[in-house]
Amino acid sequence: MAEISVITVDGPSGAGKGTLASQLATHFGWHLLDSGALYRVVAYAVQQAEIDIADVAQVTQAACDLSVSFQSGRVVWQGTEITDVIRTEQMGNLASQLAALSPVRAALLDWQRQQARAPGLVADGRDMGTVVFPQANLKIFLTASAEERAKRRYQQLEQRGITANISSLAATIRERDERDQQRSDSPLIPAPDAILLDSTDRTIAEVFQRVLQVACERGL
Ligand code: DC
Repeated sequence: MAEISVITVDGPSGAGKGTLASQLATHFGWHLLDSGALYRVVAYAVQQAEIDIADVAQVTQAACDLSVSFQSGRVVWQGTEITDVIRTEQMGNLASQLAALSPVRAALLDWQRQQARAPGLVADGRDMGTVVFPQANLKIFLTASAEERAKRRYQQLEQRGITANISSLAATIRERDERDQQRSDSPLIPAPDAILLDSTDRTIAEVFQRVLQVACERGL
């Protein structure tokens, strides 16, 4: 069977990975894997079952038992739509904590790899290019300054009518980045063959055009 083409988009939270990955998937007509959403669903399942995050065996079991479907941007867990409820800072933080546990990561690995289906996959996360799809055709590592990411998050929340404090958002973002970067299993680092892009002073349209150019050079 021919290899399935894969583009990975990794980077810290709020750098614009989600938007870029979804634009790329639409452009190429490929599948999209939002691996962060998967970790967030585990966080949600853990919270619903009132499992203590320190109980690694139970958290891992929740990841193994996960019954979730992603349908055109909608996240459905055990028959209930949880698309929006998993997007809170609190759920992101819990996801980041359980994502530091190796058995949890191992439990989610096969499912993620199975998302590489014809005609291709765009995978968004922290370890897509380093661990999950090391053979990807194109690896992007997208960053932006913590201040800029906090500002974008603030604007997103404001649009949804949620009031937030920009400096506490920046602190949460920094704390999450640090945990994701410093964990021993699959830390947030660029793959050696990744293309590094900084979106601090670029619009998402500019980033998208740059990635398309590289994808074209790679014959994608
Ligand atoms: O992309 P996100 O903000 O929705 O991800 C939430 C958390 O999940 C993130 O802080 C760390 C974890 N995560 C991970 O460890 N590996 C991934 N591939 C994706 C997310």
